[in-house]
Amino acid sequence: MPKRLRFCADRKHDRNGSKEVGNMKKMAQIVSIGMLLAGSACQDLEHSRQVDNPMVSGKTIALQVCSNCHGVNGVSVSPTFPKLAGQRKEYLVDQLTDFKSHSRTDPNAQRFMWGFTHLTDTQIDELATYFSGQSAVLGEASDLALISEGKAIYHSGLPDKGVAACIACHGPHGEGMNQFPRLAGQHADYVVKQLEVFQQTDTRPRGAPMKAVCANMSDRDMRAVAAYVEVFPPEEEVSASPAGNQ
Ligand code: HEC
Ligand code: HEC
Repeated sequence: MPKRLRFCADRKHDRNGSKEVGNMKKMAQIVSIGMLLAGSACQDLEHSRQVDNPMVSGKTIALQVCSNCHGVNGVSVSPTFPKLAGQRKEYLVDQLTDFKSHSRTDPNAQRFMWGFTHLTDTQIDELATYFSGQSAVLGEASDLALISEGKAIYHSGLPDKGVAACIACHGPHGEGMNQFPRLAGQHADYVVKQLEVFQQTDTRPRGAPMKAVCANMSDRDMRAVAAYVEVFPPEEEVSASPAGNQ
């Protein structure tokens, strides 16, 4: 039996242990209500939306809560909500920790992600494992001229403007590594938004390397590289598989 369910059984036991002889009947009622509540809480753990209950598993939270915005498999529909599928586990842990401590502070982070202050380290780890293990889904190509401009920036940077090549940190297939996030497949609008956040604000606590990278990028440069990473050429099978993620 999983540890979480055993915990519930122990709680019932404690309730029974505190019975008083003189007030038996009343107490029995209270106890049975208590057991009822404890019992229903136990059954609901697998379907719980209680993000502040440390007994609820990260995967359950992912399916019941996070999925509303990020999609059940981490493939969100709206570009307001970043895709999480196939994102690096270490990067996800970092970001969830920064939201929890309210140190990633741009307006959308505050509005949508600051509520998750009760997630435990274990839950954060489980959430990151769940989403990093989902298969990334690439976007569809539209503006081919913009995409080929972006491809050049991704692979060679813009030496005249001091813009480093993205490939150096985000990988040959945009797959990322450890603290360097996956970019391949991410919504272009979200990518542009984050590049602006790095360039113009200090609201992302781990953003220093990116601030240097995009200091001199124009709006056009950002849109081009974002269009490219959204539709990134497919990866080799080995790096696309969840097992290659660890
Ligand atoms: C109500 C909508 C909503 C819900 C629910 C939600 N998120 Fe988010 N999440 C967002 C938005 C919006 C952003 C982008 C914030 C920004 O622009 O900085 C975000 C950003 C993130 C990021 C950063 C991704 C990146 O690429 O940097 C992670 C990780 C994340 N969410 C994980 C989760 C997890 C795990 C849950 C469930 C516990 C969750 N989110 C629930 C809306 C939501
Ligand atoms: C020197 C290493 C380095 C280079 C070069 C680099 N990045 Fe990054 N990038 C990072 C790191 C580290 C982060 C994570 C920052 C954080 O945790 O907040 C990041 C984050 C990002 C994010 C945020 C992703 C998300 O899900 O929120 C985007 C977008 C991004 N980089 C785009 C680019 C582009 C485009 C280029 C090339 C023009 C580039 N990066 C070059 C290190 C780099």
